Amino acid sequence: MIPPSLPDFPWDQLAEYGARARAHPGGIVDLSVGTPVDPVAENVRAALASASDLPGYPTTHGIPELRTAAVAALSRRHGVTGVDPQAVLPTIGSKELVAWLPRLLGAGPGDVVVIPEVAYPTYEVGVLLAGAEPVRADGLTQLGPRRPAILWLNSPSNPTGRVLGVDHLRKVVEWARERGTVVVSDECYLALGWESEPVSLLHPSVTGGRLDGLLAVHSLSKSANLAGYRAGFVAGDPELVARLLAVRKHAGMIVPRPVQQAMVAALDDDEGVARQRERYAHRRLLLRKALRDSGFRIDHSEAGLYLWSTRDEDAWTTVGWLADRGILVAPGTFYGPAGRQHVRVALTATDERVEAAAERLAE
Ligand SMILES: Cc1ncc(COP(=O)(O)O)c(C=O)c1O
Repeated sequence: MIPPSLPDFPWDQLAEYGARARAHPGGIVDLSVGTPVDPVAENVRAALASASDLPGYPTTHGIPELRTAAVAALSRRHGVTGVDPQAVLPTIGSKELVAWLPRLLGAGPGDVVVIPEVAYPTYEVGVLLAGAEPVRADGLTQLGPRRPAILWLNSPSNPTGRVLGVDHLRKVVEWARERGTVVVSDECYLALGWESEPVSLLHPSVTGGRLDGLLAVHSLSKSANLAGYRAGFVAGDPELVARLLAVRKHAGMIVPRPVQQAMVAALDDDEGVARQRERYAHRRLLLRKALRDSGFRIDHSEAGLYLWSTRDEDAWTTVGWLADRGILVAPGTFYGPAGRQHVRVALTATDERVEAAAERLAE
């Protein structure tokens, strides 16, 4: 068997710039990976511990409380209605689902899967793992007469922070329904709207009250600092979720039971999400001002965890310029050819490190 040919793991290319940034006398400010640095809430940790003596296998579909908590959180936080708790499936973080979803839904050679023009790299990886053809497009007209098996959306976007409005989402849904295309929206940054209010694919203003052919992918990594727990879920069309569940049961893709308990606590905790939002809002304003004052332009970035920044030069030149100031960021090329003149600046560093970055940019 020949394994599918996957792109080189992009982060390996950043190692030399990481070394340059670490050599700064004030130490590195690592804004390259969007990994949370703030504490896991006490109530979430207590919930995890409360389920530490359960020796039996957990179910792939998750405990009913978890599914109910997910439906309730979608409704309270994002105005999503009509999701059947049976149509919620916990995932081991969302990255594994992104990487396997085309395969799990049966896409394969001869199928087209649409991913955003500038995108989180795992969408492409998932299409390649399924043996299908990835097509990068942000607009439906770019797709011509094609009938894709799956179309990925990501709003707010990683890396650009762009938000897709209700009209855009509704048009995509109508277009997809005419073609039998499954629309999957990765909504892991949905709680992080700054200058615009992101809308879920599953919101009734988008769906018209019908969830057929639609899935939303959610993660607790960013909203609840649970990246280390690996906690996400997918929800939407009951028939599609049942198909995912059927395969995942066979494949042993099960969220550990203590993590399921922690997810219930995090999904019930809107205050925790608000607290985390405040931290990111503060860091975002500091970094945005410092970047702009030192000559950067920031595009999109109206939501999400990143500032999509440019000096209208090759992305690697900007990565080097920042590395010499001890600041590590990701080049836009990691996210597709259209990112060649941008860098992605993450908001995930402590206040102290973000202040250090701002000072260095002002020098
Ligand atoms: C757009 C997007 N989707 C999915 C993920 C995966 O997140 P996790 O696996 O932690 O849920 C990330 C992580 O950065 C992301 O940016």
